Amino acid sequence: MNRARNTVRLTEVPQPVTDEREEILAGLRDRPKHVSPKFFYDERGSQLFEEICEQPEYYPTRTELDIMEDNLDEMANLLGTAVSLIEYGSGSSTKTRLLLDQLQDPAAYVPVDISKEHLASTAEQLAADYPDLEVLPVCTDFTKPFPLPVPSRAGARNVVYFPGSTIGNFNIDEAVGLMKVMRGEAGDRGGLLIGVDLVKARDVLERAYNDAAGVTAEFNLNLLCRLNREHDADFELENFRHEAIYDEQHQCIEMRLIAQDEQTVQVGNESFEFEEGEALVTEHSHKFTVDQFAELAARAGFELRKVWTDDAELFSVQYLDAA
Ligand code: AVI
Repeated sequence: MNRARNTVRLTEVPQPVTDEREEILAGLRDRPKHVSPKFFYDERGSQLFEEICEQPEYYPTRTELDIMEDNLDEMANLLGTAVSLIEYGSGSSTKTRLLLDQLQDPAAYVPVDISKEHLASTAEQLAADYPDLEVLPVCTDFTKPFPLPVPSRAGARNVVYFPGSTIGNFNIDEAVGLMKVMRGEAGDRGGLLIGVDLVKARDVLERAYNDAAGVTAEFNLNLLCRLNREHDADFELENFRHEAIYDEQHQCIEMRLIAQDEQTVQVGNESFEFEEGEALVTEHSHKFTVDQFAELAARAGFELRKVWTDDAELFSVQYLDAA
């Protein structure tokens, strides 16, 4: 494909109208009270997440990047020639670029994300930097099946790329459901390249989610700013404290906001009582052993082919084939 300017064709999949307010209220009525981590990512929250990734205690981003850099040749060989690469959550373009630089004659790059502005700007930038690559962004909620755009040059196979261990932020059944969607997009000859955070010592985990600079705490509390701004709530930020504890039984970090006093908070037309010390759960981040993740992937129709880790076995990048 030799074009003067690599134009980007964005596909927008119409989304059913979901009632975010109702979802938030339902979580606050539940026990323990909870709010979905998807509400972290307003503009400030996305900025804070990028800052978290640079904190010395937050090992996942750095470690995944090192694993990618050390094993790019082998990854590119496994993915094969003329692959269509479908990235879920068009987040960190650093890792994507590393991969694209190494892939043999990729047929297309399909970034999939719910945030249209972010998706469009990432896609435009990549198309400018990779003039021979067809970039076909899809704006949709990737947890639901969606039609893939058809590249002008048919790819040899589809490979889904899902870095960052975001799979860990879903509960186990949701994670299997999401991987079934990926299996559908990959097709029978396709594959999945995925970042998976590994089980490790409690102190390493708790430090990663309680960085000394307080960025994760600010990220967690920013959720309340968003509820105040967008959902007519009146949380007093100084009345809540960030906490991140490793739950060994469920192998996940649980992030919470702890009420410092007994208080009443208004959200829309409803009021909620908090007791002193009561937790509002904001995120789970699951950690896996390699065997546990292979079992979970098998439930979604994927077979583990290759695992790359760092020397300390903090993080893994895994390649799975459609079974
Ligand atoms: C996006 N996700 C993989 C991050 C994680 O580690 O679970 C979100 C995060 N929450 C606090 N720090 C980072």
